[in-house]
Amino acid sequence: MKKIGVISDVHGNSEALIAALAMLDAVKCDEILHLGDVVDIGPDSRGCLEILLSRKDVICLLGNHDRDFVLNQTEVRAKSHVPAQHKKQVFGTLTQQMRQAVKAFPLSVERICGGQKLFFCHYALKDQPFDWNVFPFMPLQTEPSAEAFDEIFRGTKADAVFFGHKHEPCEFRGRMLYVDVGSVGCHPSTFARAVIIEYDDAHWSYRRLQTPYDIEAVRSRMHNEIVEGDALYDFYFLRKHPNG
Ligand SMILES: [Fe+2]
Repeated sequence: MKKIGVISDVHGNSEALIAALAMLDAVKCDEILHLGDVVDIGPDSRGCLEILLSRKDVICLLGNHDRDFVLNQTEVRAKSHVPAQHKKQVFGTLTQQMRQAVKAFPLSVERICGGQKLFFCHYALKDQPFDWNVFPFMPLQTEPSAEAFDEIFRGTKADAVFFGHKHEPCEFRGRMLYVDVGSVGCHPSTFARAVIIEYDDAHWSYRRLQTPYDIEAVRSRMHNEIVEGDALYDFYFLRKHPNG
């Protein structure tokens, strides 16, 4: 059987990334996909980019925060909880060479597994030619359902879609199988999460994996080093919402 490791939304959490990659390396993946959002929120966007860009077996897809980095767009978007000052700090730690590398991240990839087409992306894509000036993703579905995904993924023709963006894993079967792989490390649990797809010419299946990592080290670095680090930790890691 061949194996594809899938992770998403590492968001500067190199502790979780290192743990997840070690877990995927232990099962010997043929390739590993990161489904977007390498940067912002966590304490080590630079370290995450260095790790992911250094590996020949990793393909990174473009996420909305990666797009902001390419465009050096730091103003707060509607519904975003990442302050401009934070993004300025993070983007200031990254190099022009990294920006060029991220600019080349594809929006999606496809794989034929067990005779079926699997589609990978950060989130449902707008049905239009890519233009750096236009936000390419459909609105986030706060209450995911098969019907909601059938609607936003209407432009995608595949048997299954794997994506991230919301940071909370889920799966629904509508017109296609929809699998939100969840964030690798930007969530309340002390486990780094990944999905592994196993396939041959006739069959494919997927399962979720998790491994413990040092979330306290992340909290400490966010507190000590990161602009708005405490607020971002509370919101993204503890799911404490500012207004209750
Ligand atoms: Fe994200």
